[in-house]
Parts: sequence; C-alpha cells; structure tokens
Amino acid sequence: MDLIEGMKARKSIRGFKPVPVPRETIAQILEIATRAPSAYNTQPWEFSVLAGAVLDEVKKAVMERFESGAEPHPDFERPTPLVSIYRTRQVELGKSLFQLMDIGREDNEKRNQWTLKMARFWDAPNAIIIATDKEVSGPLLIFSIGAVTQSIALAALHFGLGTCIEHPPVYYPDVIRQVIGIPDAKKILIAMAIGYPDWEFPANKLESTRELLANAVAWHGF
Ligand SMILES: Cc1cc2nc3c(=O)[nH]c(=O)nc-3n(C[C@H](O)[C@H](O)[C@H](O)COP(=O)(O)O)c2cc1C
Repeated sequence: MDLIEGMKARKSIRGFKPVPVPRETIAQILEIATRAPSAYNTQPWEFSVLAGAVLDEVKKAVMERFESGAEPHPDFERPTPLVSIYRTRQVELGKSLFQLMDIGREDNEKRNQWTLKMARFWDAPNAIIIATDKEVSGPLLIFSIGAVTQSIALAALHFGLGTCIEHPPVYYPDVIRQVIGIPDAKKILIAMAIGYPDWEFPANKLESTRELLANAVAWHGF
C-alpha cells in the first residue's frame, strides 16, 4: 500500500472478525514499526502480545474489575476532564459512535456494554500491551511510544489488519501484571486491539472528522 494512501486509510477499528492473527504477522508488524523514531533512540517500548487463552484470561480479569465498580488506577494518569474545543471533539466522537451503534443517550445498559466491549479490546482476537520502564517520565519518552503505536497501526494495514489504540483495558494494571507477569519495574501505558476488521460492524463505518488545517496551523515567513 502506498504510504500516503495508508495514512489516509488508517482509522480506529472497534469490531473484528474472530480470526486470530498469525504470530509471524504480528512479529513482522512490530519489526517494521520499531523503526519509529524515539527520543535519544531510547526505544522506550516493551510489547506483550496476547492471543488465545491468555487473552481470554486477561479480558476476564479486566471485566471482573470493571464490573466491581473499582476506581481505575492506571500506571499513567487519565487526562484530566477535557475542556475547550477538545471536549467538543470528544463529545462529537461519542455521539457519532453511539448513533452508528444505535445506543441512546439514556440507555445506560447499552452504554455499559459498549464500555465493557472497549475494555475487552473490542473483542479483537489479539491485543498488544505496551509498557515502559518504571523510571520513565516526561513527555519525550511517552511521545516516542506514540510514534511507535502509529507505526504499528500503519504497518498493520499492509497485512489487511485494523487496530485501535485504547486506554481502558489498562485501567487496572495490577490484574494484567498478574496474568501475564509484567514485573513491577515496568509501567503499563497503553493497549492496542489488533485483528481483521469486521466491516459490517457499524462503528467501523465511522469517518472521524478533522479540524480544518487552516485552524490548526500558523505559517510564518512564507
Ligand atoms: C492515546 C489514544 C488513546 C485512545 N483511546 C481510545 C479508547 O479508549 N477508545 C476508543 O474507542 N478509541 C481510542 N482511541 C482512538 C481515537 O478515538 C481515534 O484515534 C480518534 O477518534 C480519531 O479517529 P480515527 O483513529 O478513526 O481516525 C485512542 C487514540 C489514542 C491516540
């Protein structure tokens, strides 16, 4: 796939076919994606790739915690409640997804099911958990992990795969640590769902909007 075509085609996928991705394919994707730039070439990313019974066990443990109503305690804080135009965009995204999924504003049951599905890696057949050294702090290293996640998302397209970067599956990092044995010396940052997109799944039809470039760029010296 042409680079520009791929960058334009990438979108978050929230419904997957129940077809496992071969380990070799994910290995190739990670091999390619770790060519991503990182601050000081620190490569501050550590991947745990989940499949089959282990993924089921992680999902089950995360579900139990969600359903218990326990307060999330992610290793990296959730953003403070959004304000400004960021909040407006967040609300717009939520509305569009709920509309596609036929989830009513007051339908707490469906909203709850949606959150649980998100926490279950959107029921993807595979998932990637990204951790980093406990000593890591500051924006440059986190920014570097952002770069690698985008590269994973783009490389995945080449293999006919879709991804969704997401935080809720790692809201309770202790349960993930316990199931897959991530040591306390590592902080869990983010998760990615990965699999073959189910194009019939309504949320996958979303074309998320973008601000006009003119509103996001200042040109100087032209
Ligand atoms: C750091 C990060 C966290 C995200 N967390 C979630 C999430 O928890 N749930 C979700 O459905 N999408 C999540 N997304 C995907 C965004 O909602 C998505 O990228 C955005 O709406 C733009 O849509 P697009 O990816 O389809 O272009 C996340 C993306 C990023 C970069």
